Amino acid sequence: MQLSRFLQLKTPYSRQRVRVLLAQGRVRVGGEIITDAHREIDRFIRVELDNKLLQEAQSRYLMLHKPAGIVSATVHSEHKTVIELLPQSLRQGLHLAGRLDLKTSGLMLLTNDGNWSRRVTQPESKVAKVYRVTTRDPVSDEAQGVFQKGIYFRYENITTRPAQLERIDDYNSRLAIHEGRYHQVKRMFGYFDNEVTALHRESIGALTLDPDLRPGEFRFLTAAEIALF
Ligand code: URA
Repeated sequence: MQLSRFLQLKTPYSRQRVRVLLAQGRVRVGGEIITDAHREIDRFIRVELDNKLLQEAQSRYLMLHKPAGIVSATVHSEHKTVIELLPQSLRQGLHLAGRLDLKTSGLMLLTNDGNWSRRVTQPESKVAKVYRVTTRDPVSDEAQGVFQKGIYFRYENITTRPAQLERIDDYNSRLAIHEGRYHQVKRMFGYFDNEVTALHRESIGALTLDPDLRPGEFRFLTAAEIALF
């Protein structure tokens, strides 16, 4: 992307104003003052305007154990967000690779690499997400077959992809889904008039929540984990 376009996207300034800022030598790319509006900017080169960081040179990939009651958003007026669980120095530019409902706990991925998060979340990649599900009533005997066949969601006019249910006991099961529709797990159990009383995401694809992470804790992904997507 060209520098002038980048600045228009990342700041409130117009095309004309951006040209003035550049001409005044207020923009640094990779630590160097750049006045050329056409300079190509790649995803991980440091860009600063008046010493304010607009993009940094490092890609970052984190896994976080989301506790129930924390909202999976970067800003929220009412609830504490997953971003606020991180030290200030790590927050800039991060976004979530997929969301969880307020009361859901478990594996969340955060990054500043949009291409990577798209590979994790885009429906075509069919990455399996595995949830530990606790329900109000015993799980119906039919659930396994019905989830495998797919459930029709009228609102989206889609049938869910085959999902695998493993029963742990009457009230606890493990469900693998391969897309991420709004409240998908709750709606799937809702089909049987059953209520999900606790939901915890254990894994996304081959990436499993680190058992050493307590709720609210995070760690950086390893190179091998990043390469999974
Ligand atoms: N399905 C849900 O219903 N809630 C979540 O948080 C994740 C999947």
